[in-house]
Amino acid sequence: MKIGVPKESAEDERRVALVPEVVRKLVGKGHEIVVEGGAGQAALVPDELYTDAGATIGDPWGAEVVVKVAAPSAEELGRIGGSTTLIGFLNPRGNPDGLQAIAATGATAFAVEAIPRISRAQAMDGLSSQSNVSGYKAALLGATESTRFYPMLMTAAGTVPPAKVLVLGIGVAGLQALATARRLGAQTTGYDVRPETAEQVESLGAKWLDLGIEAAGEGGYARELTDDEKARQQQALTDATKGFDVVITTALVPGRPAPRLVTAEAVEGMKPGSVIVDLAGETGGNCELTEPGQTVVKHNVTIVSPLNLPATMPEHASALYARNLQALLELLADDESGALAPDFEDEIVAGACVVKNGEVL
Ligand code: NAI
Repeated sequence: MKIGVPKESAEDERRVALVPEVVRKLVGKGHEIVVEGGAGQAALVPDELYTDAGATIGDPWGAEVVVKVAAPSAEELGRIGGSTTLIGFLNPRGNPDGLQAIAATGATAFAVEAIPRISRAQAMDGLSSQSNVSGYKAALLGATESTRFYPMLMTAAGTVPPAKVLVLGIGVAGLQALATARRLGAQTTGYDVRPETAEQVESLGAKWLDLGIEAAGEGGYARELTDDEKARQQQALTDATKGFDVVITTALVPGRPAPRLVTAEAVEGMKPGSVIVDLAGETGGNCELTEPGQTVVKHNVTIVSPLNLPATMPEHASALYARNLQALLELLADDESGALAPDFEDEIVAGACVVKNGEVL
């Protein structure tokens, strides 16, 4: 396959789809890689490292497969041809117009978000690799914004109690946030509407917050709560959040606005100096007072809503994503010849393909 790696054009996007380590492996399997000049610059990967790994620097859009991080911009759409296969975070549920625009080029597109969450696809699971980065960074942001220590300190100047950190939403990001906060010495508690997460929370040495609302949905995801369940959940969380120094929220329901877990009343009830880190800002936020992309102080509580946290750690986020793409590219290639030959009968290929020869699936 001839694989193109464009420089990402979205504002603040510092990641790159392939890193030299993965380029070397793909070249070793007989593929040809064309990297746009400066594609790795924001991730501190110079062009020389790509050429050392066997890539050429040139126009990536002429390749039969184009691998990206973010969905293509309007300008990039103009460079996609009818025979292109595009791979990236294409936001198929959140941006149907974007898919239509890709389809209008006649191309075929695979969305990383649409890869089924099955065991065989774990190596390709870009949502998981990037959520790991987000969860880690969210725990650090909570510590940075807090006016208090995470760990218990026993010093000559007296003892400081450990911070209490609550994580709402125990997917991949939530688990990493819990693990990271605990490593920094915080007392951790986790909450989700999927009952199986209780055991996962406890396996990380955290307490499980049981509010008695179960909402397991399809494909391992949560379903949206009914109005009655939402009201009960918000009331219970208003009571629960009062005792925490840092609340990290990561709750998402695929294709729906982020569930409102923390009301304005709950924020008002928290101790002054407490912190909320809301990872759901891109779909509206889990906290009623969140301003997506901003850090605001409301009722003496700092509410941080970072967007695209993986881009703030471009080196490791790109390296993990590139390995995800390597696994997906290998699945799309013929075992013998290495030529692009997607088997649309394969569950992963069929699930990930969101546009086929100009038609939105
Ligand atoms: P996500 O980012 O879509 O959502 C985060 C969390 O928010 C989920 O745990 C969800 O249950 C929770 N949530 C939704 N509504 C809520 C509400 N009203 N209140 C409280 N919590 C709420 O989740 P992510 O990280 O993408 O994981 C989704 C699923 O995929 C999980 O079951 C995970 O274990 C599974 N998974 C499977 C993999 C595999 O086998 N290949 C790899 C990674 C994840």
